[in-house]
Amino acid sequence: METVLSGIRPTGNLHLGNYFGAVKSFVKLQDEYKCFFFIADWHSLTTHPKPADIQQSVRTILAEYLACGIDPEKAAIYVQSDVPEVLELYLYLNMNAYLGELQRVTTFKEKARKQPDNINAGLLTYPTLMAADIIIHRADKVPVGKDQEQNMEMARRFARRFNQMYEVDFFPEPASFAYSDKAVKVPGLDGSGKMGKSEGNAIYLVDDATTIRKKVMKAVTDAGPTLPNSEKPEPVANLFTLLEIVSPKSTYDYFNEQYNNCSIRYGDLKKQLAEDIIAFNTPIRERILSYSSDLPYMERVARMGAEKARESASKTLNEVRHIIGFRSC
Ligand code: ADP
Ligand code: TRP
Repeated sequence: METVLSGIRPTGNLHLGNYFGAVKSFVKLQDEYKCFFFIADWHSLTTHPKPADIQQSVRTILAEYLACGIDPEKAAIYVQSDVPEVLELYLYLNMNAYLGELQRVTTFKEKARKQPDNINAGLLTYPTLMAADIIIHRADKVPVGKDQEQNMEMARRFARRFNQMYEVDFFPEPASFAYSDKAVKVPGLDGSGKMGKSEGNAIYLVDDATTIRKKVMKAVTDAGPTLPNSEKPEPVANLFTLLEIVSPKSTYDYFNEQYNNCSIRYGDLKKQLAEDIIAFNTPIRERILSYSSDLPYMERVARMGAEKARESASKTLNEVRHIIGFRSC
């Protein structure tokens, strides 16, 4: 059976972009594949979070994973720092990762621009740690959003390089994977670009109805179409993309027709969009609140996940040590 793996950094609450770009696929895949879903807490250290915040952030994502429907009986749900085997593989991969190629990764360049006072080596080697996360379980498929494509390309490259260097066919090249046929990009509400935590334009799964209404009503639009069937400029196209994602097709078609015959009232569209998001969010929000208050259960889930992940990781690592030439005396 093929193996699926993915992770998210614990840097805030999950938003609709995380859900429709990644977590929704996790939930579907757990029925068909051997699955590992983890919380990338080592990755979050690149921005130097406060010690007191780390545990809370990890718990938040864990409760949200569970609330979205990831089932600890079907998939291994674990915290990255509970699986130290990953670090040894990270070290081996770093020996064959070159400064030039790491410096050329777009996310590194962006982060270096955003935090010029903290261009640390962890930021540079982010792609090797991510590759180690993936190939430690010899994963075949990795459900992630479009923005992770370059990191995935690096993971494939490191897996291939290891195989070539030691003349083995050991690591599969992990494929980026979207459950639907193409990677999704969920737009934000501010007129351009993607929905993201740091973009400040996100609707979180834990947002209540009042917050959602307020955010959606503030979304950027324009003066409205003046010619029938005109192309939608980005802010409006984004609202339609959100409708496409959370509303029934009939709602999308209704507003699309109104747009095409120039009778659309954006206020009505936003009201409907807000209600559809609320209908989607409400049951998830309730489950988030209920899991968050059950720490013993979450601890059990994390322990069970770590056990499964360590078993799989140490098996890979034993073989890797052997391939590299380490033998116990
Ligand atoms: P953020 O951009 O809010 O910091 P992350 O980078 O932690 O989110 O992303 C976690 C996962 O969610 C990744 O798989 C990423 O590809 C996916 N993701 C994040 N934002 C979006 C979005 N707007 N559309 C699609 N997928 C997304
Ligand atoms: N880089 C991913 C993100 O920012 C998180 C991540 C770390 C990851 N390791 C991974 C995703 C391994 C998939 C597989 O969203």
